[in-house]
Amino acid sequence: MRRFDGKAALVTGAAHGIGRATAARLAGEGARLVLADRDAAALQAVARELAAVHGADVVDLTYDAADGAASAAMADRAASAFGGLDCVVCNAGIYRRGHFAAIAAAEWDTVLAVNLTSVFRIVQAALPALRAARGNVVTTASTAAVRGIAYAAHYAAAKAGLVALTRSLAVECAPDGVRFNAVCPGRVKTGIATGQPPLAGADAALVVRPPRLAGRTDGGAPDDIAAAIAYLASSDAAYVSGSVLVVDGAQTIG
Ligand SMILES: NC(=O)c1ccc[n+]([C@@H]2O[C@H](COP(=O)([O-])OP(=O)(O)OC[C@H]3O[C@@H](n4cnc5c(N)ncnc54)[C@H](O)[C@@H]3O)[C@@H](O)[C@H]2O)c1
Repeated sequence: MRRFDGKAALVTGAAHGIGRATAARLAGEGARLVLADRDAAALQAVARELAAVHGADVVDLTYDAADGAASAAMADRAASAFGGLDCVVCNAGIYRRGHFAAIAAAEWDTVLAVNLTSVFRIVQAALPALRAARGNVVTTASTAAVRGIAYAAHYAAAKAGLVALTRSLAVECAPDGVRFNAVCPGRVKTGIATGQPPLAGADAALVVRPPRLAGRTDGGAPDDIAAAIAYLASSDAAYVSGSVLVVDGAQTIG
């Protein structure tokens, strides 16, 4: 028996990086998947690949997490795609760099909308299905939420909000048997910072140190995070709710 046999899971940000790796892992363990992302072409390619490689039932939904109503509508469609939802992985996110004094209000709003408000809308829409299934939610936060990060205050604030949202819902939804947990990745080799040039005038002494774990000092792999997400989403974590799991190769400890 594989851990996700008979389970239906929604994974956001599934077209690339950690979300893609998570979708592959859940498909390999038997899940039926609803994959969501704004990058329609890449998402459809992932859906086709997982169906071909794993024989998985896969539905792909294109949405823009910057749009709250679109996020809620996507989650509604996800809940009806397979007649229920056992697991929601809220993983879609964006990272932006900037000196605090130069962060434009519109940029702040976008970072908060994609990384935090969209999760509020998705979980609210999915909650009836999750209650019915006694399901669970895993959010992808960041070590930035726990320790702060220079030159990305909007990102850190959004991720700290995401951790607080996750832990608050773990309490509020405990009587319904719905679990909520967060993973906090450190540096992971994905395309999230692609296209962002080094920040002029940044103080190198304030920039985060690399991971320390031997063989991983250049960053973790998406599957390192997918493994943690799959654990939290599975019945192996049946007694785990409200946890914040740091996965960072000893990058931020000490
Ligand atoms: N890579 C890291 O070092 C790192 C560290 C800590 C946390 N994280 C978090 O992990 C999560 C996944 O990031 P990743 O590293 O795999 O990056 P990634 O860029 O490879 O993947 C992010 C995915 O989210 C999607 N996405 C972005 N904006 C969207 C929007 N408006 N609507 C819908 N989908 C959207 C992208 O298309 C992409 O598929 C993010 O929440 C990120 O903040 C990443």
